[in-house]
Amino acid sequence: MEKSNNPFYNKHYISIDQITSVSQIKYIFKLADRYKKCVLNHKVCEDLKGYTVAILFWQPSTRTFTSFVAAAKRLGAYAINVHGMTAYSSSVKGESLQDTIRSINQTTACDAIVMRHPDNFSSLNASKVSTCPIINGGSGKAEHPTQALLDLYTIYTKFKRLDNLNVVMCGDLKYGRTIKSLAKLLALTGKNNKITFIAPKELSAPTELIKDLKKSIKVVEQQDFDNALTKADVLYMTRVQKEWFEAEGRLEQYEALKHRYVLTRYLASTMKKSAMIMHPLPRVGEIMEEVDEDKRSWYFKQMRSGLYIRMALLKSVIIK
Ligand code: CP
Repeated sequence: MEKSNNPFYNKHYISIDQITSVSQIKYIFKLADRYKKCVLNHKVCEDLKGYTVAILFWQPSTRTFTSFVAAAKRLGAYAINVHGMTAYSSSVKGESLQDTIRSINQTTACDAIVMRHPDNFSSLNASKVSTCPIINGGSGKAEHPTQALLDLYTIYTKFKRLDNLNVVMCGDLKYGRTIKSLAKLLALTGKNNKITFIAPKELSAPTELIKDLKKSIKVVEQQDFDNALTKADVLYMTRVQKEWFEAEGRLEQYEALKHRYVLTRYLASTMKKSAMIMHPLPRVGEIMEEVDEDKRSWYFKQMRSGLYIRMALLKSVIIK
């Protein structure tokens, strides 16, 4: 592998555990700032002209898929987009994930592959055979490392700091992959960060994750909002993930839990004026639409961060 100051160059990005220093985060944020300026000023920025990016999704997506497609195209790359891998690729005929990746390497001569797949180890397994970098756009219940970077970038955009943040994460902390990746980043960026996890015991964050986080930052677990909202800088809501209950034949339990936490205008009014409300989306009832007009609601602006961060990541893994 060639030497470079770019810590992402020619590497897979499959787990948040690969981010081990704040300098890696700052590297991506700086590039994201540059691309943000390009996009907002309608500037052509063809850093990836002549390169090819394959974007392969075996699971549904609105934001991650479209922002990666937009990111590749805005950088001038050829974007080969297959949203329906489950229905239309030779996975249907029983082809292994690794053979599919080997095939896409050959048929497209791609310089990077972005993938989303229901298996926790999908990106890792793909990375073992791919001839180009793999970027994980969501793997099972385990990881969503590009979402974590865009979430942190959104927080940094507002607060201009990555430490001394009181973050409340609420909802499905068992199946939700975004909170796991973001929590790890917050533990890395500031020893004065605090995370309060709010979930029913059936949906609590994995014990191993809590144990790891507690080595670096203060972590509190509770089942109700109690007074956590009044002190939060960031409230990160998540949906209860029906698809995993469905897969495990536990839809009754989903129905009982799905509206356990609902952010109303009244609850939002108890939060600090300087707070921000985030959600990776899609939402399915856990933030009422009446909250949308609140200036502290960042969940729509949060998505736009995904475009800039994903442009920065694509460029970084492909070009030195
Ligand atoms: N936040 C997120 O991953 O959204 P999509 O599932 O729509 O990509």
